[in-house]
Amino acid sequence: MTELTGKVAIVTGAGRGLGRAMARALAHAGAAVAVASRTKDELDSFVEEVRAAGGKALACPTDITDEESVNGMVEATMLEFGRIDILVNNSGIVASTPLLEQPVEEWDQVISTNLRGVFLASKAAGRHMVAQGSGKVINIASNFALQGVVNHAAYSASKGGVLALTRSMAIEWARSGVQVNAIAPGYFATDLNRAMDEDLTEKVVRAIPARRMGIPAEIQPWVLLLASTASDFMTGETIVIDGGQTVR
Ligand SMILES: NC(=O)c1ccc[n+]([C@@H]2O[C@H](COP(=O)([O-])OP(=O)(O)OC[C@H]3O[C@@H](n4cnc5c(N)ncnc54)[C@H](OP(=O)(O)O)[C@@H]3O)[C@@H](O)[C@H]2O)c1
Repeated sequence: MTELTGKVAIVTGAGRGLGRAMARALAHAGAAVAVASRTKDELDSFVEEVRAAGGKALACPTDITDEESVNGMVEATMLEFGRIDILVNNSGIVASTPLLEQPVEEWDQVISTNLRGVFLASKAAGRHMVAQGSGKVINIASNFALQGVVNHAAYSASKGGVLALTRSMAIEWARSGVQVNAIAPGYFATDLNRAMDEDLTEKVVRAIPARRMGIPAEIQPWVLLLASTASDFMTGETIVIDGGQTVR
């Protein structure tokens, strides 16, 4: 069911964290994987890892907020692998700032990376999926899209936008055989949360019924399911992986 040999995937924000874990899972399942982010040496190390294991990978240095750069990512993938079957829209940044103090530039950067980036990559890659009559778009949102969170207005709004965009794209492309679904992670131990001190980490963990953060490997089975035929009759949906934080 999660055999992906012959499939081609793009994973944005795959240099580290959740993106790298998902790209690794797709490569292990047999997909050729193009990885995109701004930090080239992280992409190169992923490509080296996959090629050493006998797989296929391509580094696409990309700024997800820039249309030309995103189009270049898709063109390079088409040139190297000839098709695109799976797009994981994962690039993201967080800002923790009280609304009244948030500079407009910071708001714009968060929305641009987390929401505009999903639009740009989906438009560029979705064109090929719709033309071929099949494809899987997997958008990485957040459980912050589902609840009010202090000091995270821009981030929560961007991720709420990602869920709305997921539903709209899903409906628009349903007849073309392209499924669009989202994953909404809760707290995972990655660089994104690096800025949290010990006190805040303890407070965060207390708010999670499972009393721990997720580890990147725990997102892997879900991205494989959404990338595979298992999700052929599922579209516009969101899978929440957050240790029970948003169901209490
Ligand atoms: N970790 C969590 O607790 C958590 C919870 C909920 C949702 N999420 C979401 O999961 C996704 C991955 O998060 P993570 O925890 O793995 O974060 P991370 O470790 O900070 O990695 C973020 C990735 O996004 C890339 N990125 C940032 N800005 C970019 C840009 N302008 N263009 C291209 N790539 C860009 C980064 O690469 P460069 O900086 O090199 O470009 C990096 O590869 C994000 O969308 C995040 O919002 C994470």
